[in-house]
Amino acid sequence: MSLVTGRQSLVKFNGILFMITIGIETSCDETSVAVLKNGRKILSNIIFSSLSEHREFGGVVPEIASRSHLETILNCIDVALKKAKIRLKDIDLIAVTQGPGLMGSLLVGLSAAKALSFSLKKPLIGVDHAIAHLYSAFLSEKGLRFPYLGLVVSGGHTLLIKMKSAGSFEVLGRTRDDAAGEAFDKVAKILGLGYPGGPEIDRLSRGEDPKQIFFTRPFLSGDSPDFSFSGIKTAVFYRVEKLKKKKSLTLRMKKAICAGFQEAVCDTLVEKSLRAAKSHRLKTLVVGGGVSANSRLRQKLNAAARREGLRVVFPSMALCQDNAAMIAGLGHALHREGKRSPLEIEAYSEFAREKDGN
Ligand code: KG4
Ligand code: ZN
Repeated sequence: MSLVTGRQSLVKFNGILFMITIGIETSCDETSVAVLKNGRKILSNIIFSSLSEHREFGGVVPEIASRSHLETILNCIDVALKKAKIRLKDIDLIAVTQGPGLMGSLLVGLSAAKALSFSLKKPLIGVDHAIAHLYSAFLSEKGLRFPYLGLVVSGGHTLLIKMKSAGSFEVLGRTRDDAAGEAFDKVAKILGLGYPGGPEIDRLSRGEDPKQIFFTRPFLSGDSPDFSFSGIKTAVFYRVEKLKKKKSLTLRMKKAICAGFQEAVCDTLVEKSLRAAKSHRLKTLVVGGGVSANSRLRQKLNAAARREGLRVVFPSMALCQDNAAMIAGLGHALHREGKRSPLEIEAYSEFAREKDGN
């Protein structure tokens, strides 16, 4: 049974009509709830992370993450509504991350969203987390139009996507092994740095000459649009093992390795994005996901874009990490395109849809 009516009940304020969307994100270790006005203005974006509980294990522990979501989701909803100065009955649309992510974690957010939709009799929209990362840029940049090329670089995904509309896309390239963020995390672990590894590697690479140590750029010689990062990670592993044996893995050396590794990943991402933009005649590149916070990637993509006459758009730093504002934003856009989800929607763990998803 679906309670979805498609009716848009709008909050009236000073004679102006608003559509209020609540977004819920629980795909990994962040419990996030956001309230958006008209799909763009962020009234609140509450993010609670259980990261500190995972650190000692060197990665996210699914059971700890889902238990933390259970403990915090209702409070996050309360705080998000209070901060946005709205009541439950003002909500017009409920958007929720349906996948990809950790199943136990997704189920907590999905159950909360279904309960809201059922009790408030308001439409529900299941949103894809990877695609939503691209939507972060829409919340800080005006005048973005379809079609555009999307580069999703997160802990779980590396995707080049042609976005035709909010709900219609075509995957042009994807990683065949590790995601870019995953490679940052694994290399950081090899070097004995903290988790998550991306911000640490970014910090240690600053001011370093990236040419001190060269790592082969994978998949750049052929014309495959796909990525592969596990080879660079393995190359780092063997170099570190050698240095450990010689007792010469100094901080200096770690910094040089970080800079060389980061340069190889960034060069690959930049080159593949430029090639895809050219071959699909796309003039705008939108970047999203945790790795979009990387300072070297921003520098290199901006420089390349200026050279090639491409418009490149990054999310604000605050919206690079997992957040519910991007979920609410994409949910609102999908709703405008006529999409509704029944209460029976199920969580999914993998990004599998090749095109015309959502
Ligand atoms: O998008 P996100 O918050 O979660 C997923 O959907 O996976 O991305 C997290 C990933 C982690 O792998 C983290 O190491 C990486 O983003 N990351 C970075 C930086 N900040 C976060 N990687 C490189 N440089 C950064 N500054
Ligand atoms: Zn994410």
